[in-house]
Amino acid sequence: MAKLDGKIALISGGTSGIGAETARLFQSEGATVIVTGSSERSVVAAKAALPGIEVLVSDASDVAATKALVEQVKGKHSRIDILFVNAGIAKFAPIAQVDEAFYDNQFNVNVKGAFFLLKHAIPVIPDGGAIILTASVSGAAGALGGSTTIYGSTKAALRSFGRTFAKELAPRGIRINTISPGPIVTPILDKVGFTPAQKDSFIEGAKTRIPLGRTGTAAEVAAAALYLAADATYTTGAELFVDGGLIDL
Ligand SMILES: NC(=O)c1ccc[n+]([C@@H]2O[C@H](COP(=O)([O-])OP(=O)(O)OC[C@H]3O[C@@H](n4cnc5c(N)ncnc54)[C@H](OP(=O)(O)O)[C@@H]3O)[C@@H](O)[C@H]2O)c1
Repeated sequence: MAKLDGKIALISGGTSGIGAETARLFQSEGATVIVTGSSERSVVAAKAALPGIEVLVSDASDVAATKALVEQVKGKHSRIDILFVNAGIAKFAPIAQVDEAFYDNQFNVNVKGAFFLLKHAIPVIPDGGAIILTASVSGAAGALGGSTTIYGSTKAALRSFGRTFAKELAPRGIRINTISPGPIVTPILDKVGFTPAQKDSFIEGAKTRIPLGRTGTAAEVAAAALYLAADATYTTGAELFVDGGLIDL
């Protein structure tokens, strides 16, 4: 028997990178998987890349859309056994260059969207269900630099959600855990505002600081998500760093 046979899994931000790889893995373990993306264009591409997986447009920064998403999934599947709150954006800038729009954009997607998806989904998650949040080493390590100030603070909010929600959900046997990846080569690195040379230098620079000497893969984060979804039955409120040892700076 596969680890997720008969389970309904909703993954926000599953059109590419970590979310898409986790969707493939959960599907291979028997789950019915629904993923979201922010735009019609990314969803069309993901439908072709993820056969057998339901791909929906749902803007994570739009509170009404998070409610509508949960209602849509509930209407079709009646419940959400596993919720992977993974949608996120990353923009890096030194403090002096941060303006209100830069701040709001990341907080709206990464924090507000995550909170309201959780709020709307929790009543639809049966007792004994599992929730996983994607934070980041940037949420726990200031040493990664000033350019990660806003992104890191959004991810610090998520790791805080993981701990406080765990306490509130424990009486229902719902486990919630946080994955904090280090640098993982995914399409996000093409969206942060790097030039190709800056991207290469970011990856090479990261390798020199990571004890395991390399960046990670989306498949390695997906394996951690599967562990938290299926195997970690006595673990809640925990944060699992998938970072090659980087956090122990
Ligand atoms: N890669 C890393 O090094 C790394 C490290 C630490 C943490 N993380 C976190 O891991 C998560 C996944 O990132 P990734 O590396 O896999 O990057 P990615 O390939 O860019 O994936 C991001 C996903 O989030 C979705 N998304 C972004 N904005 C959205 C919105 N407004 N509404 C709905 N969906 C939205 C994207 O969908 P669309 O394409 O449709 O917008 C995409 O499916 C993020 O939360 C990120 O912060 C990544």
